[in-house]
Amino acid sequence: MDNASTIKPVIVFDFGAQYGQLIARRVRDLNVYSEIVPCDISADEVRAIDPAAIILSGGPASVYAEDAPKIDPEVLELGIPVLGFCYGQQIMAVTLGGKVGHTEKGEYGPAVITLCDKQETMSVHDRNDDGKVTDFNSSFTVLDKSLTSKLYEGTPDEQTVWMSHRDAVCELPSGFRITATTEVCPVASMECAEKKLYATQFHPEVRHTPYGNQMLSNFLFNICGIEKNWTMDTIIEDSVAAIREQVGDSRVILGLSGGVDSSVVAALCAKAIGKQLTCVFVNHGLLRKNEPEEVEEVFSKQFDVDFIHVHAEERYLSLLDGVADPEQKRRIIGTQFWNEFFAVAQEIADDGRPVQFMAQGTIYPDIIESGARKTGGKASTIKSHHNLIPFPEGVHFDLIEPLDHFFKDEVRALGTALGLPDHIVHRQPFPGPGLAIRIIGAVDGEKLEILKNADAIVREELDAYNERLYQETGERNSEHSCWQYFAVLPDIKSVGVMGDERTYQRPIILRAVESSDAMTADWAKLPYEVLAKISSRIVAEVPGANRVCYDITSKPPATIEWE
Ligand code: XMP
Repeated sequence: MDNASTIKPVIVFDFGAQYGQLIARRVRDLNVYSEIVPCDISADEVRAIDPAAIILSGGPASVYAEDAPKIDPEVLELGIPVLGFCYGQQIMAVTLGGKVGHTEKGEYGPAVITLCDKQETMSVHDRNDDGKVTDFNSSFTVLDKSLTSKLYEGTPDEQTVWMSHRDAVCELPSGFRITATTEVCPVASMECAEKKLYATQFHPEVRHTPYGNQMLSNFLFNICGIEKNWTMDTIIEDSVAAIREQVGDSRVILGLSGGVDSSVVAALCAKAIGKQLTCVFVNHGLLRKNEPEEVEEVFSKQFDVDFIHVHAEERYLSLLDGVADPEQKRRIIGTQFWNEFFAVAQEIADDGRPVQFMAQGTIYPDIIESGARKTGGKASTIKSHHNLIPFPEGVHFDLIEPLDHFFKDEVRALGTALGLPDHIVHRQPFPGPGLAIRIIGAVDGEKLEILKNADAIVREELDAYNERLYQETGERNSEHSCWQYFAVLPDIKSVGVMGDERTYQRPIILRAVESSDAMTADWAKLPYEVLAKISSRIVAEVPGANRVCYDITSKPPATIEWE
């Protein structure tokens, strides 16, 4: 994206899965553009990016382990401000000639740091040959705020931070001083302000460090002097300009799934190029109740684009007929999507105005996780994604991926700013193969109908439950709110009795989990009255269902979905 390629980013060296992403998101939350780079990037590559600042993430390794990730020492000599967290502090220390050792106990979870803004803390430097502090004397309570690190401006002298370490810096590199300590960790943070090198043993990026955001903000704005360059207005303006420049007056085709990412790309392209865009919505019949109608409503009425609704429900049903294996279902559904999509693409190109581009909802975590991009260059990204798309013989599109610099929450914010309704923007995660993998065993029309109706009740009741929690707590994601919830239809029947009649029908399994990223999840501790209402409504209102069970298994060992 143009904006992203012209402004100086804050680059995050990623020393371990997930750590870097979280830091980059926090930086962007402060309206500063940030990108993740692999930790073995060379000083020359860093120079080429010309970042405004560098952040070294935490990571799971021990700095002295044989295969521990290292940094090019020259990176710390470039004159670019650097801030290291946890492993980032340790690697900074070791690279510059300091030492890291084992602390006796380690610290995992909350810890209290004391800032070195009292004179006595200076005596840490005054050790005798045995390493003992020589002099505590009367300076014990004398505060000298000029000793407070700029990193801690506006934060209390004692504060809670989040630690997770056994190793810690035990000898400072020359030119550094200690800026905070804990009872266990003598170097809770350190700095060499002249060279703008700062580091903390704790994790300012996690919410459990209450002043972490303030520290990050101090670093970016007070220490590095960076100006805010990542706001929703500039993002939209620049994205629109970039799409127009790339596309010119060519036509673009886009496969709409009803999910957040493809919907936001559609809304963005609609703003940029209007009728040059054709949205193809392949309706496989496996979406939740009313979803196809909602997608059509938004993209045929609210946005001025060409919208094609492909009714492929019957074709999918016959392809899935008798198929019980989950992976085979996934394969059939995925392959058929492209068959349907390319059939339409070829048809619309036949009107004499060929389609040059295909827009995709690839987002930044897809890029990071696929390892597609090493240093922020776009070419490698496009190539790797090209390879993933099974273009049929003789068919070719150039790709545009306008969301490839955005995190999921930014994509949602973009969607809202572009006028997409909440039910699309805040849609729960929903598997591409849809309800087919929530029907255990072979899929047929009757089972789909039962599941759609039961699922609609689950969503209605748990949407209302989440809303009540929001009213009570003021938080959208409070401790007990459900993150993902749906119905599952197992491949069994059981006996029941309704009125005077014996029934032999299907059970519905309720799945409701608390999670933040789907990597781990716990079953939601729903109040009995909520469970009771869902159960009685499903049995009363859904023909073909006579029993409701609640899945009380966390992930791991189970998964969120059943197939
Ligand atoms: P599991 O079941 O692995 O799911 O705990 C984790 C998250 O991923 C979603 N999911 C899928 N999404 N295609 C998708 O696009 C799939 O085949 C698929 N399977 C699971 C799931 O809904 C959950 O949020």
